[in-house]
Amino acid sequence: MASSGSGNSHEAWGSRIGLILAMAGNAIGLGNFLRFPRQAAANGGGSFMITYFIALLLLGIPLMWIEWGIGRNGGRYRKGHTPGMFAAIWRHPAAKYVGAVGLVVPLVVMIYYTYIESWTAAFAWFSLTKDYWGHTTQEGMIGYLQSFQAISPEGAPVYHKPWTPYAFFIGTLFINIYVLSKGISGGIEKLAKIGMPILFLFAIVLAGVVLFLPAQPGIGATPWQGLEFIYKPDYSRLGEPGVWLASAGQIFFTLSVGMCTLTAYASYLSKKDDITLNGIATAATNETAEVVLGGTIAIPAAVTFFGVSGAMAIAQGGSFDLGFATMPVVFQQLPFGNLLGVAWFGLLFFAGITSSVAMLTPITAFFREEFGFKRETVAWSLGALCLVFGLMHVYWLEHGVLDEWDYWAGTFGLVVVAVIEVILFMWIFKPNKAWESMHQGADIRIPQIFKFIMTYVTPLYLLFILGWWGWVDAIPILLNEKSAGGGVLDPANTPYITFARAIIVLFAITAVVLIKMAWARNKYDDRKGFVEVDRSGEGA
Ligand code: ALA
Repeated sequence: MASSGSGNSHEAWGSRIGLILAMAGNAIGLGNFLRFPRQAAANGGGSFMITYFIALLLLGIPLMWIEWGIGRNGGRYRKGHTPGMFAAIWRHPAAKYVGAVGLVVPLVVMIYYTYIESWTAAFAWFSLTKDYWGHTTQEGMIGYLQSFQAISPEGAPVYHKPWTPYAFFIGTLFINIYVLSKGISGGIEKLAKIGMPILFLFAIVLAGVVLFLPAQPGIGATPWQGLEFIYKPDYSRLGEPGVWLASAGQIFFTLSVGMCTLTAYASYLSKKDDITLNGIATAATNETAEVVLGGTIAIPAAVTFFGVSGAMAIAQGGSFDLGFATMPVVFQQLPFGNLLGVAWFGLLFFAGITSSVAMLTPITAFFREEFGFKRETVAWSLGALCLVFGLMHVYWLEHGVLDEWDYWAGTFGLVVVAVIEVILFMWIFKPNKAWESMHQGADIRIPQIFKFIMTYVTPLYLLFILGWWGWVDAIPILLNEKSAGGGVLDPANTPYITFARAIIVLFAITAVVLIKMAWARNKYDDRKGFVEVDRSGEGA
């Protein structure tokens, strides 16, 4: 039998609470507090929520268990990366190359995600120093946001030094890489233990403040109308495929399924560890943060200050207007508004960073396990790579490169990965073996109906989404008939977008070459599989 790699990568979670917090931190991110309210408001509120819960039940929760299962199974052979995890399931020479998606997708998402995360750090600072105070209208704040992003229209006033977004991006990336360089229990778990309680505290305070906002003169809406807009079931838009696709996309992004980060985290568990209860606990924590807290902050605040139709119009506008323009307008009207601003952007920052560090763990594991590099070396080298391509986003934001990466990796890519995972685990590994593997060390039994859902319903639902998206979005976007950010593509942006796509292709080719080198170096035999590693004494 072949060996299990160079493996100087002896890592494990320190404690069960640390594992749960890190997994929840991995899932809870900008998606919960920025993306969710926008998607819910732009896709019909109550109608969106019905399709959202169906997607949670038929896609999100089954895939959460499948990812924990694939990850922990990979961990038996000390494989924290998908090329190894997939090869452990499917003894075929192609399996490892298929796994390249699991190195590329999280790396690509990490790069642009960290840039957005850096805006939250900047706006926490601008809130504390009241730098945006005086921009009291939605349009005024959008102008301020564009000035910070260095994308102000010709002739518009500029309020920031040109280097400001670069400084915040480099600082944010540095913190991410520092945490990563400290490892699983010494970096990621510690960050989660600090970041998650702060995040929940800030979110609870903000939700409390928002719920008691008084109706505004001339608007007359209350925060409760905002809640009603989201939570009151509405069947009127259930016939629109766009609403179903938007809610499925949100489930993927928010739970981090298809990002190969849950699999990477689960690989640091041993076979005595529970994954059934931990998996559902992670999903439940994420959904509480999203539906209860995420739903109670931005939309009710926007509805109170702009009315239901005003809030819907804002959500349909720029992706970040609700979080970075509307919320600061609201804070400026409230006592201690600057501190509430710090709480809002601070919570976004902690939500973001506990997710972005996860996105580099699969590729870090790959270099450590297969090439024997030191953790610090891998972390800082990846940091340099992320810096170069992150600067591309800072510099070319207005040319749509971020939207392009978000579409191909953060939206379409997640579904592609999920299709591969469900086929490998439920069809190649086989349902009975998958079920048994998920239940090793289990604290609870997964209801039997989920075996049927995971085997038939989830893959069919996924294939439907992939097909529909391919038809209505992916093909037109690829042919430059449509922009990845929505609407018509500005032909002047075509060269930038082509370049952004070429980088993803380059990453994919590099990943395939590296995988080939790793397999040759470690003399793996695809047909025989890896040697199991004794992990007793490890794990949370
Ligand atoms: N799941 C992470 C988020 O919601 C990526 O932002």
